[in-house]
Amino acid sequence: KILILDFGSQVTQLIARRVRDAGVFSEVYPYDVSDEFIRNYGASGVILSGGPNSVTDGDTPRAPQAVFELGVPVFGICYGMQTMAEQLGGQVEMGKVREFGYAEVRARGHTALLKDISDFITPDAHAMLKVWMSHGDKVTHMPAGFKLMASTPNCPIAGMADEERRFYAVQFHPEVTHTVQGEAMIKRFVIDICGCKADWNMPDYISEAVESIRQQVGDDEVILGLSGGVDSSVAAALIHRAIGDKLTCVFVDHGLLRLDEGKMVMEMFAQNLGVKVIHVDATAQFMGHLAGVTDPEAKRKIIGREFVEVFQVESAKLKNAKWLAQGTIYPDVIESAGKGKKGAHTIKSHHNVGGLPETLNLKLLEPLRELFKDEVRKLGVALGLPHSMVYRHPFPGPGLGVRILGEVKKEFADLLRRADAIFIEELRSTIEENGGEEPRSWYDKTSQAFAVFLPVKSVGVMGDGRTYEYVVALRAVQTQDFMTAHWAHLPHELLGRVSNRIINEVRGINRVVYDISGKPPATIEWE
Ligand code: XMP
Repeated sequence: KILILDFGSQVTQLIARRVRDAGVFSEVYPYDVSDEFIRNYGASGVILSGGPNSVTDGDTPRAPQAVFELGVPVFGICYGMQTMAEQLGGQVEMGKVREFGYAEVRARGHTALLKDISDFITPDAHAMLKVWMSHGDKVTHMPAGFKLMASTPNCPIAGMADEERRFYAVQFHPEVTHTVQGEAMIKRFVIDICGCKADWNMPDYISEAVESIRQQVGDDEVILGLSGGVDSSVAAALIHRAIGDKLTCVFVDHGLLRLDEGKMVMEMFAQNLGVKVIHVDATAQFMGHLAGVTDPEAKRKIIGREFVEVFQVESAKLKNAKWLAQGTIYPDVIESAGKGKKGAHTIKSHHNVGGLPETLNLKLLEPLRELFKDEVRKLGVALGLPHSMVYRHPFPGPGLGVRILGEVKKEFADLLRRADAIFIEELRSTIEENGGEEPRSWYDKTSQAFAVFLPVKSVGVMGDGRTYEYVVALRAVQTQDFMTAHWAHLPHELLGRVSNRIINEVRGINRVVYDISGKPPATIEWE
């Protein structure tokens, strides 16, 4: 196994993720574990992460000295390289120019780490790597025993290696996907240099997670707010695997869910998996509080507040529950960084973590907090959840509440649900050949797609009669991170089919429009 020491980088978990991708087990610990911990851990190799500090300041983090005395390979990344250099007798200086983003690095010295790994070869036969840099300081003198492994004009010592002791270090970030060969480098380190076997996989992950959940909660009972979304669903399936009936899920239907969502959740969890699920239909309560409210943020607040309220009432009935489980995944953790992570700097506070934990007085159980979305999905499939649910588009907490513009009414929600279901059904049914790869539907090719209800009426003609009915807008976007997005270029025939079906099948809607705005300047949701 690989030990990753965290110096507070925003992307430390990406290192763990790449090691997992290589099929090797790893764990992340804070940089200030003791020498004794290091000696007893049994690592086959150690990776030192990046971090926001400067080793040129005296009181900044250092690796436990035992790391360099273990006799196992060590890989320093960014700050990890700098502290390695400094601790072993080299020199680090504050850089005059800070370097962020894309860089081309020349690989040197034919080290075991970079041998035969390159993105292109220059005309004068230099092996070059396309990498992602993010640093201010740099190593100016290598410690004794090290040779140059990589360089850029800006950063002459961009990589160094002591192959005798099997110490490697790079200034760039191999763990991010922008470093094209990063995955290959980390694999090279853990498999070839550390000698780990690539035999760790999702079933192993499940047994480890099950074991650690059992240890954490003991004989206590756990409650979980099941939303039907991917994260809470996978968390529920995993925790149920670990503790069975000691898990109770609460599924709150606020009346703003997609068509048949409640039925689907109950079938999947209560019937198929045998999970205890309390289904609360709180439609009337939510609609009551939303009556007359038109401001989007006010609607969000009401929905969030009522959700906590309902959840609290239900959980108070479960007298023995000591834990609140949440499907927090790693990107959520990093968005609210700073809380409890040594050395990290806060980037921004999370916009969607409700007041649940504080008000309920329960301990938090978050078994997915080290996983990335795609890993959560793989885990879900391995736990037996259907592919179609695990690969669903995200759905916002306030649900149709922010897709019905202005005042929310049950009548509008009912119309919107049906229109939305038709859109999704048509997107899913467009399976096309995909150049030899697995065929994918337009549902898979878009990141999020949904219908929006516009509470304005327009005139239409149906048969011989005049209609005066509501408008529905279709929205489909493609995005990596939901921070920026392109509108999806859906085929016109597909849009035509969706429009026809909605107007014919949903009485009350006589016009369908397609949203062709990007984000920015528009947002993905309409409110
Ligand atoms: P916007 O509209 O900000 O959406 O471009 C970006 C992503 O965030 C989702 N979203 C929300 N999710 N509560 C949530 O849980 C919210 O209040 C909320 N608002 C937007 C949106 O669906 C998209 O995926």
